[in-house]
Amino acid sequence: FTVILILCYHSKSFFLVNHQIYRYNHFMKRTLVISTPENVGKSILLKGWVNSVRGHGKLVFFDLRDRSGLVQVIAENLDVVLKPEYVIAVTGKVVKRPGKLANDKLETGQVEIQAKKIDIITQSKELPIPVTGDGHDINEEMRMKYRYLDLRRPRMNRNIKTRSKTVKFIRDYLTNHDFVEIETPILTKTTPEGARDFLVPSRLQAGKFYALPQSPQQYKQLLMVAGFERYFQFAKCFRDEDPRADRAYGEFTQLDIEMSFVTQEDILQLTEKMFTSLVKEIFPEKKIQQTPWPRISHSEAQKKYGSDKPDLRKDKKDPNELAFAWTLDFPLFNKQSKEDYFHGSGNAQFAPSHHMFTSPHPDDVHLLDKDPLKVRGLQHDLVLNGFEVGGGSIRIHDSKVQEKIFELIGFTKEQKQEFTHMLTAFQYGVPPHGGIAPGIDRLLMVLYGEPNLREVMAFPTISSGQTAVLNAPSIPTPEQLKELHLKSIK
Ligand code: AMO
Repeated sequence: FTVILILCYHSKSFFLVNHQIYRYNHFMKRTLVISTPENVGKSILLKGWVNSVRGHGKLVFFDLRDRSGLVQVIAENLDVVLKPEYVIAVTGKVVKRPGKLANDKLETGQVEIQAKKIDIITQSKELPIPVTGDGHDINEEMRMKYRYLDLRRPRMNRNIKTRSKTVKFIRDYLTNHDFVEIETPILTKTTPEGARDFLVPSRLQAGKFYALPQSPQQYKQLLMVAGFERYFQFAKCFRDEDPRADRAYGEFTQLDIEMSFVTQEDILQLTEKMFTSLVKEIFPEKKIQQTPWPRISHSEAQKKYGSDKPDLRKDKKDPNELAFAWTLDFPLFNKQSKEDYFHGSGNAQFAPSHHMFTSPHPDDVHLLDKDPLKVRGLQHDLVLNGFEVGGGSIRIHDSKVQEKIFELIGFTKEQKQEFTHMLTAFQYGVPPHGGIAPGIDRLLMVLYGEPNLREVMAFPTISSGQTAVLNAPSIPTPEQLKELHLKSIK
């Protein structure tokens, strides 16, 4: 029996692994496509995808693609058939292309690889969507179903890589400026930012639900009470709201920032300096139209442009023009319609223009009782080319003022109780604080000049609420529902 087992094992590995190739490749380190020009005259091993094949019969040309780029390979008398998107290993010699045959459009265009051996690692079926063009003309459902292929297209590949560079730049910048990166919970309690919550049922506490955070607003303020003074995080935010090109349904990412002992001016300065250096470093082809960034009051913006996020570009046709601006002096409240701001109950007349933790302008506090709609808030919106790419404020740090705001927005006793932890925390030495949260997806969408947020996200959710590839939401099993103490009604 043992002998049979050993024989089976060996025959299996015989069929699965071509020992010869394995041994040959084993001694060679893989070279990346981008470094082929430094290896002229040498024998190298490349691994990657077949990008496109030209020619038949004796002489075949194709481009090999890996994470670093493309290089042309020539193969003579191929004993295998190569098709686009096959994953292969190529052993071959790097040769310089004769001057007139060099391809300026390719970073490796001055060389080509003369293949000695080609091994097919995995084959590919014919792709359901093309991955070479910009993809804008392809049906979005197909792009989402096959997002892992869609991400192979150079435009998407560039978008995702530049996103990574942007996030790294910001992380380095803020940590170099004494900020601490802190993660906050996803399973939490409601933090209202004006959208509906996503709820998660609790198995351990029947009938109770967590809410996914619409933003880490309360946690970041509590971190100021904790004494960190300078916090940031790339925070996932969850909002159940009607999607638009620049507004995600479901989840998106904020660069969440909070600081203690600062004025509004400090927050604006930090943001302005950081994003100016970011543009210089990561988007050198872009030009910021005006520095320092223009500031406009909410009422002036409405009067002059009919919008609180005016597009101040002089030349709107130029894709490299960036018109950053600040909108300030928002009214603290908007007049509330019949619909309540929070959970649809109460009979409030006023809704916060930003959120309920925003401080009233110190000169207007006396108006809170007399004429709340005249009170200005210490809110700041960051505008770029007509989009609101960030929002923030100086916060209330006086429990009495916070309670007054709760009253004015029509909180019931029960609703107030949901926020007593904030009032309690503020009794133990709270520093004055404030912050901002630029939307990373929206900022990148505008910087790239992309038509919607999904073009800068790896696995976005489409407008019907369906997620890419995995196709959530889905139906739970009856057992799952039972464990969660839930019944589903059609
Ligand atoms: P606010 O709700 O204004 O503020 O959000 C801040 C920024 O986040 C981005 N954003 C979105 N991006 C994509 N899809 C969405 N659905 C979406 N909603 C918002 C925008 C927006 O300017 N806690 C406060 C910030 C603070 O006060 O510090 C907050 O969340 O770019």
